[in-house]
Amino acid sequence: MASSQRVLYSTFLLLFAALSFYLAVEAVSDYKQLYIVYLGERQHEDPNLVTASHHDMLSSLLGSKEEAVRSMVYSYRHSFSGFAAFLTDSHAQQIADLPEVISIKLSGSVPLQTTRSWDYLGLGFEHQQQPSGLLERAKYGEDVIIGVVDTGIWPESRSFDDTGYGPIPSRWKGKCEVGQNFTVDNCNRKIIGARWYTGGIKKSELRKVDLLSPRDIDGHGTHTASTAAGSLVASASFHGLGVGTARGGAPRARLAIYKACWKNQGCPDATVLKAIDDAVGDGVDILSLSLGGALQPNFASIHAVAKGITVIFAAGNDGPIPQTMSNDLPWVITVAASTVDRSFPTVLTLGDNQTVVGQSLYYAAKDKGFKDLVIILHCTAEVINSTDVAGKIVACGDSLYAFDTMASSARQAVTDLGKVVSSLVQADAKGVISTGTSLGILLASLLTQKKGFVHVVVDDDVLWQILNYFASASDSTSPTVKVSPASTIVGSRVMAPTVAAFSSRGPSILYPDLIKPDITAPGVSILAAKRDSYAFDSGTSMACPHVSGVVALLKAVHPHWSPAAIKSALVTTAHTMDAYGFPIEADGLPRKLADPFDFGGGHIDPNKAVDPGLIYDVDPKDYLKFFQCTNDASDCDLVDSHLYQLNLPSIAISDLNTPVTVWRTVTNVGDANSIYKVVVEAPSGVNITVQPSVLEFNASMKMQTFALTFTPVRMVQCDFRFGSLTWHDGGNKHSVRIPIAVRVIIQPFFSYIS
Ligand SMILES: *[C@@H]1O[C@H](CO)[C@@H](O)[C@H](O)[C@H]1NC(C)=O
Ligand SMILES: *[C@@H]1O[C@H](CO)[C@@H](O)[C@H](O)[C@H]1NC(C)=O
Ligand SMILES: *[C@@H]1O[C@H](CO)[C@@H](O)[C@H](O)[C@H]1NC(C)=O
Ligand SMILES: *[C@@H]1O[C@H](CO)[C@@H](O)[C@H](O)[C@H]1NC(C)=O
Ligand SMILES: *[C@@H]1O[C@H](CO)[C@@H](O)[C@H](O)[C@H]1NC(C)=O
Repeated sequence: MASSQRVLYSTFLLLFAALSFYLAVEAVSDYKQLYIVYLGERQHEDPNLVTASHHDMLSSLLGSKEEAVRSMVYSYRHSFSGFAAFLTDSHAQQIADLPEVISIKLSGSVPLQTTRSWDYLGLGFEHQQQPSGLLERAKYGEDVIIGVVDTGIWPESRSFDDTGYGPIPSRWKGKCEVGQNFTVDNCNRKIIGARWYTGGIKKSELRKVDLLSPRDIDGHGTHTASTAAGSLVASASFHGLGVGTARGGAPRARLAIYKACWKNQGCPDATVLKAIDDAVGDGVDILSLSLGGALQPNFASIHAVAKGITVIFAAGNDGPIPQTMSNDLPWVITVAASTVDRSFPTVLTLGDNQTVVGQSLYYAAKDKGFKDLVIILHCTAEVINSTDVAGKIVACGDSLYAFDTMASSARQAVTDLGKVVSSLVQADAKGVISTGTSLGILLASLLTQKKGFVHVVVDDDVLWQILNYFASASDSTSPTVKVSPASTIVGSRVMAPTVAAFSSRGPSILYPDLIKPDITAPGVSILAAKRDSYAFDSGTSMACPHVSGVVALLKAVHPHWSPAAIKSALVTTAHTMDAYGFPIEADGLPRKLADPFDFGGGHIDPNKAVDPGLIYDVDPKDYLKFFQCTNDASDCDLVDSHLYQLNLPSIAISDLNTPVTVWRTVTNVGDANSIYKVVVEAPSGVNITVQPSVLEFNASMKMQTFALTFTPVRMVQCDFRFGSLTWHDGGNKHSVRIPIAVRVIIQPFFSYIS
């Protein structure tokens, strides 16, 4: 059992249910709704001309320039051409019929989705901890600008101290927008820009719960920004747990903050798109979006990528069931979440003095002595209500197992568990002992806020021990239990990484011929800044900025690499085994070996990614072509528009029936004279041949194309099966591995999904 999974979930998960898909249209009259109009690539260099053309389009429809300006919430003009406007359905229909309009959609809203983790990734500050010297080679990311689209920033946090920073890069064109509790002095050489977006949301509603400025009331944005690029802060901890130096992956990278997510509103499409559009105009190098759900329409990121900006998204927290991926777009990096080698063992002493160990984030200065122990087999709000639990610690019997098995997702289980805990807190119980996979811990975040309440997660066999003790003790005495404060252990005794249960899984519904997520990174129990202190949080939202920080370092070392090249370097060097050679597992029911739909290429390995040997590059024009072909098949100028022909560092074929040949091109970025030989691990039931099977590179031959032919061996209707293709250059230097997923289909109409 990977005990390190037993860590707390973030409070934002609890907000999930409340925030999800809350439309931003509630602010307006009955007749108009907020629409987003997409016009494709912009037609003018000058952004003002782009906006003027939007006003013209609306004026001719609405009758006057004034009406057009009043209706328009945002004009998107840096990355692509389009606008957000309040329109009646009939006006929307008229716009949809205009020839220059590619799409028009209602604006929805998407939910939001350190210390140990960076050492664990081989980017410790001690030089011997980072074999490639990546941090130093990258100058700690000082010249790189990371745009963070989130809930804003808490600028006073020590993580954003700019002492010793050089001048702001001269190419920066962003702004420091002021507002409630936020002045220009809150920007510095670390936070070089801060903007906020309320378009389409009623300000009077926002004012009640949030601040109209870039200031982060929620804490999510400060956490993610400090994870990607927080400055060094010595001895950060959460009440003594996880103590260490807190810092971001690229501790000197600059931060540009775009507050597009709001309390009770989630992240409305219109504001997120404007944030992305401004970030492109401002000159960010990287966009980090720890947002869940599906941003609709999803085209904004393609234009950012075409401008050389690497876009990184969280995969979502809807695992462990399949087909729950968010942000599954071919041109972005989609990040799954996994554990690190740290856990928080908590000793429970039972009344007969036997001790058992669970995990918690219980941080009391000393243990509070023995408390009465109550067992409730089915921990529902009703049963708790009718049981005397005041002052006692409750062990929930099979209930959490039931939460695990019956909940449709880890997120649902969180919601169910949340109800139990609030009933317990309401009834004045002192704590709860529960089982649960990695999702069991998540309540701890709630509990740590309710002082004096403790949540300990134990394995099933430990729960049995407690039940046995209870049964034998009840005869003579009243059963009791004592909880000692948690301690922190790190290193080889903790099995890691494991893909977290909540991490969303592939395959993609939108693009079945695509492997998503791309990669996994630490996202469980991550310590980072929150207001003036530090707090643990878990989620793919926490994993996403880990990749953003690493990308900043890679950009600093390889400024000319495209977003596709950077993604390729990350995916092809990711590891699928842990440090001791055991395959990485994925939490869920049951726990299993991780496959590409859990973690893409595997777990991120920054020191290898800086020197990948070969890269699978993609011309952004190809992304646009594939996007066009999926959008409108009648206007497609590709001979073979199957997504598996896009030169991605992965191959998925969702409907193999007759032999299929897939092409890939690799570019040598290692020694000019290199020879690579192929090793193929074919998915069971599929034959793969590779032509040629040896690639020779020299000073004039930097790119090579090869063909893979997939042939089903047995015609059996199958689920996806997994394999890989690896180019080795001999010795132990480079192994360039891509994941493969193939599903053999006999009858295309027979849908067979695991
Ligand atoms: C914002 O400023 C007001 C007035 O100075 C202050 O009362 C309030 O506590 C501040 N809010 C936060 C979250 O800092
Ligand atoms: C448990 O240990 C304590 C201290 O060592 C001792 O006083 C107590 O009698 C023990 N209780 C039982 C039931 O053995
Ligand atoms: C708990 O009991 C009280 C009264 O005993 C009742 O008002 C309340 O609705 C009950 N709550 C639940 C969740 O059953
Ligand atoms: C590089 O390899 C190509 C093809 O193998 C060969 O034609 C060419 O002469 C080589 N060039 C150099 C500089 O060795
Ligand atoms: C698959 O490959 C094996 C070994 O190369 C070969 O013997 C077999 O005939 C192939 N099967 C098909 C269906 O191509």
